[in-house]
Amino acid sequence: MTTTVYLNGKYVPKAQAMIPVEDRGFIFGDGIYEVVRMIHGKVFAWDAHAARLANGLDGLRIDRVGTESATLKAVCEKLVSDNGLADGEATVYLQVSRGAAPRTHHFPPAGTATTIYAAASAFKPNFAMRDNGAKGITLADIRWARCDLKTVNLLGPVMARQAAQEAGAYEALLHRDGMITEGAATNAFFVVDGVLRTYPLSNYILPGITRIEIMKLVKELGIACEERAVSLVELLRATEVFVCGTTTDVQPLVEIDGRVVGSGRPGPITVKLKEAFAKRLYDK
Ligand code: PDD
Repeated sequence: MTTTVYLNGKYVPKAQAMIPVEDRGFIFGDGIYEVVRMIHGKVFAWDAHAARLANGLDGLRIDRVGTESATLKAVCEKLVSDNGLADGEATVYLQVSRGAAPRTHHFPPAGTATTIYAAASAFKPNFAMRDNGAKGITLADIRWARCDLKTVNLLGPVMARQAAQEAGAYEALLHRDGMITEGAATNAFFVVDGVLRTYPLSNYILPGITRIEIMKLVKELGIACEERAVSLVELLRATEVFVCGTTTDVQPLVEIDGRVVGSGRPGPITVKLKEAFAKRLYDK
């Protein structure tokens, strides 16, 4: 079956989707992206993704024409349907760049059309890893200071995930000034001295859509959760650690930098949230 993708208002076979070599997404990483989860043809938490995308485009001063929430939601649904992915699970990758123009660091001339691209892929969650837990490592957070914008400039996370992979780990927990900000492609939660904690929303982390759902779930379940950063020193006595994201769901980390976390098995708060989140994802 030929894969169909969306490019600038048209649905085209993937092999025929062409982007000019001067596209600023390619040259500068000058663009914003989203990854959304599709369950049985429907987008999970679309409104929150649409709001974050709009906020990111405004943050980079990229024109929002063509990125209206209803338009892109329909694109996601049509892509999974046209690619035969509406019966199971899928993800859709959406990217908006500042468009193609001769290379200048400053913005291209007014009226330069943005490039809007979207593609769907089949997705299979790794349930065994979610049940058993995974390994993590810690690394310095070398990213720029606008981590709240989901830009396609992903070299920090790329290098961090590669380091994790080479260490046999799933995720790299990043630290800035001795405090753990988030994972390379996930938000991070910790149980320290019996209390669930996560880094507060700021320019140093991505406001994750899964994180929003977890914050709702902790309220519903009556679990105390503080938005207060965890230090590398506190990590040493954390009894539970999990990371979360659109393609990660709730993923326990049971070993970090070779040190066992808690009992070495996913802890009770993590398991409760993992199950509650799965229910939210699948019970609609
Ligand atoms: N990553 N933090 C970072 C740095 C991320 O890249 C992501 C998502 C998250 C979790 O956000 P959300 O719950 O909205 O997926 C946190 C995506 C999935 C990616 O780059 O593929």
